[in-house]
Amino acid sequence: MKLTYHIITYGCQMNTADSEEMAQPLKDRGFLATGDIEQADVVLMNTCTVRDQAEHRAKSNLGRLREWKAANPDRILIVAGCAASRWGDSIQKRYPYIDLVSPATQIENFPTVVEQVLKERWDGKIESARHFEDATLTPANTAAPSTELFGDANTAYITIMRGCNYSCSYCIVPQVRGREVYRPLDQILANVRAKVAEGFSEVMLLGQTVNSYFSRGGEEARRQERDTSSLPRDLASSRPLDFADLLRAVNDIPGVERIRFMSPHPRHMRDRVIEAMRDCTKVCRHIHLPVQSGSDKLLAQMKRLYTAAEYRKIVNKLRAAMPGLLVTTDLIVGYPGETEQDLEDSLELMREIRFDGLFAFKYSPRPGTASAEEVDDVPADVKEARLQTVLALNRSIVQMRTENHGFSINNR
Ligand code: SAH
Ligand code: SF4
Ligand code: F3S
Repeated sequence: MKLTYHIITYGCQMNTADSEEMAQPLKDRGFLATGDIEQADVVLMNTCTVRDQAEHRAKSNLGRLREWKAANPDRILIVAGCAASRWGDSIQKRYPYIDLVSPATQIENFPTVVEQVLKERWDGKIESARHFEDATLTPANTAAPSTELFGDANTAYITIMRGCNYSCSYCIVPQVRGREVYRPLDQILANVRAKVAEGFSEVMLLGQTVNSYFSRGGEEARRQERDTSSLPRDLASSRPLDFADLLRAVNDIPGVERIRFMSPHPRHMRDRVIEAMRDCTKVCRHIHLPVQSGSDKLLAQMKRLYTAAEYRKIVNKLRAAMPGLLVTTDLIVGYPGETEQDLEDSLELMREIRFDGLFAFKYSPRPGTASAEEVDDVPADVKEARLQTVLALNRSIVQMRTENHGFSINNR
């Protein structure tokens, strides 16, 4: 008889990829995935803390899991991810029925830690457990090709870097995910080939500033005595490799039909990367390039390290290289000190660039970030009104297009 697990994932695609990675030790132990939480022996909640609301959602769900756990104390509740990094063990004080807290920064150790918990709880009891069918979606039972800009069940999420070296004033991600670590290129390519062998046709390369990717390629592989034969011949040299090299190498892998990536940072949208996107026919003609604001004053306070004019220039270059490219973005309203003029600057940028889709967020102060030191002085009702203004403008921009791919979304 098999035990079952159920995963709840909040947050971005990086968390989705992490959830898959954390499921692996459970699968290796013979656990089956179940879509029905009531039947699950293990629940893994992978949390997000990017905005206050994201944490709230996770906490209220944790409250609801009290009964699930009370029904069978042998059940295991694991809280992982970005909010787990921030909460640390304190979350177990508030919800004492949590069995394991596994911060996002500790994902490498997850298999060992979870193994200990499983051993203590379940060894010797496997026979008494129930059996459920594997409810995981696989490409084999979801044949539709991907038409979603941000991936679907045919998309293999491939983490190419972890953490972030930027210090955007509002953002808690560097705090909860740590500084940048890049995966070696040969490992990424091997990972992509394995996903193709499993049946995936689309890959999404993931990182907080995905296009800052850097690898020592062949030199690094040789130093660690890894097999360099999996690297394309021209990349097995000692030359440092960047995101442009990575795109080209993934593009050359047979069986890969579409390549997406999330999230590029405007500062790293160099000509080399734009040229690689242009040349690689499998790279989707869509880029999600978060701008955050159209006001230079706010962009400087946010420490985004570009101006609105520089952002425009990058989009122009991208569009010139790839006519018809879809451009989507993230925008924050109600940042401390945001005036009507700052909002107007953002609206003006939107009118000019005519984004194909946009995620708009109300600024949410996050503990420990630089901007949390500033007074959150835009009143809640003004933030809401500005959010609605942004969404309304985006809807009208998108509706004027003939293609039916536009969206405007309030909070992911
Ligand atoms: N690494 C990505 C962003 C990751 S967070 C990048 O730099 O583009 C995803 C989005 O959440 C951000 O683009 C931003 O728009 C939003 N966000 C992050 N912190 C926020 C906060 N404190 N309040 C409101 N929105 C926030
Ligand atoms: Fe956060 Fe900025 Fe890093 Fe993106 S680049 S994760 S917004 S600190
Ligand atoms: Fe993603 Fe949320 Fe963490 S947006 S990186 S899951 S804080």
